Amino acid sequence: MNRAPEYVSYARMDELHELQRPRSDARGELNFILLSHVKELLFRAVTDDLDTARHALAGDDVADACLALSRAARTQRVLVACWESMNGMSADEFVAFRHVLNDASGVQSFAYRTLEFVMGNRPPRQVEAAYREGHPLVRAELARPSVYDEALRYLARRGFAVPADCVTRPPEEQHEPDPRIEEVWLEIYRHPDRYRDAHRLAECLIEVAYQFSHWRATHLLVVERMLGGKSGTGGSDGAAWLRTVNEHRFFPELWTFRTRL
Ligand code: HEM
Repeated sequence: MNRAPEYVSYARMDELHELQRPRSDARGELNFILLSHVKELLFRAVTDDLDTARHALAGDDVADACLALSRAARTQRVLVACWESMNGMSADEFVAFRHVLNDASGVQSFAYRTLEFVMGNRPPRQVEAAYREGHPLVRAELARPSVYDEALRYLARRGFAVPADCVTRPPEEQHEPDPRIEEVWLEIYRHPDRYRDAHRLAECLIEVAYQFSHWRATHLLVVERMLGGKSGTGGSDGAAWLRTVNEHRFFPELWTFRTRL
């Protein structure tokens, strides 16, 4: 028997191409599954870079953290661009196979939930669900501080007035918007030359948060384009629910301090 070329065996390409198995003959379902797989893998790529960033921050290596955050943002832009391909499907093409999804929904994506947890969005409802029935990767994430937690710890070590309770909170509890942290970012942005590293870090963090919100906003537009006002396969009321999700911001004080700058 012929050996598979190294390209195929190295990355197990044959197995990869076995994974996309449409349940219908409808035009569009293959692309839907392909794009879902691509996005899942990219969620993991972003998570991996954010993990590198938080390790670098824990070691006070801001340059490395910024490099990893910039790489994460590049992948996030690709994630946003993926919606372009999905938009090639018309609403009637989606309707033709939507029933085969049953109750499958992105809310069940453990790669996405892990990414949200690394970023620091750990609402009690999601934390309970993770402990109750979550994938091991999602649960493991709850034992680690988020990338924002690590950024605040770094700033505390640098002598900024980060309140103690912001750096000692158990990792499974999410950081809540805090006016005292807003003061810290305000000080940094008022003196960017004095606090060059912290300012660079803040710019890298806001770009990651921005790209995440960009992905969510584009997902909402795609959902409106495909579903109008229909409810979701995951049981939510669809676009209406996603609209409330879209109001959430990662690294909240990095958005709010600007009003006072
Ligand atoms: C035709 C394309 C799509 C439609 C119409 C759609 C629709 C929806 C809807 C209605 C929800 C709300 C939850 C529910 O009731 O199901 C949702 C959530 C979600 N979708 Fe999609 N979706 C699409 C494609 C995708 C793709 C390709 C991904 C990425 C793999 C994705 C990832 C997610 C995630 C992660 C959530 C949960 C968001 C959160 O928990 O904040 N979606 N989607």
